[in-house]
Amino acid sequence: MSDKPGPFKLSPLPYAEDALAPTISAKTVGFHYNKHHKTYVETLNKLVAGTRYADMKLEEVVRATAGKDGEAEKKIFNNAGQVWNHDFYWRSLSPIETKPSGDLKAAIARDFGSSDTLIAELAKAGKEQFGSGWAWLVSQNGKLAVQKTANAIDPMAKGINSLLTVDVWEHAYYLDYQNERPKYLEAVLKKLITWNFAGENLAREAEPVRAAA
Ligand SMILES: [Fe+2]
Repeated sequence: MSDKPGPFKLSPLPYAEDALAPTISAKTVGFHYNKHHKTYVETLNKLVAGTRYADMKLEEVVRATAGKDGEAEKKIFNNAGQVWNHDFYWRSLSPIETKPSGDLKAAIARDFGSSDTLIAELAKAGKEQFGSGWAWLVSQNGKLAVQKTANAIDPMAKGINSLLTVDVWEHAYYLDYQNERPKYLEAVLKKLITWNFAGENLAREAEPVRAAA
């Protein structure tokens, strides 16, 4: 293994470790970010050293290794996916309360009826994800939808535009909520979702469409 720093970096948290408390404690964020997330970055850098993946962007590594049968590719996918998913999770949350607005608000009304219904569907997806995984709001074929994925899998690997995510691995909630994943989901979805981030992700998708129109 090379001693030089790897190509992938641990993105800074967008807020202080105690900023999400009491919904998510500083202790949980500290362990989650400094141990779990950081370890995925470090492991990924070791796995890609000397391979063609070392020269790719993170999203490209996830897409290039998704669904591959080789053991090396599976390990790279798991760690690259988890780096991307955690970057996206931290940015999906914020201590500053926001509400859906503009195009996102209209799309939620069109596809779910209300943001309360959307939140209930996200909570259901997170609760029903068996074992470790993620609940997502995505935009696919001009329609918003809720998805759940297992382990390191994400909709981005299939080219689907993700708007926000909630981590439902036990390490995301066990220190604060023990086994009560639904309580964690309810609190996070009601208090910490950054709707502005979801709106920005939706707007990015709309730009080329508008430009071509
Ligand atoms: Fe996590």
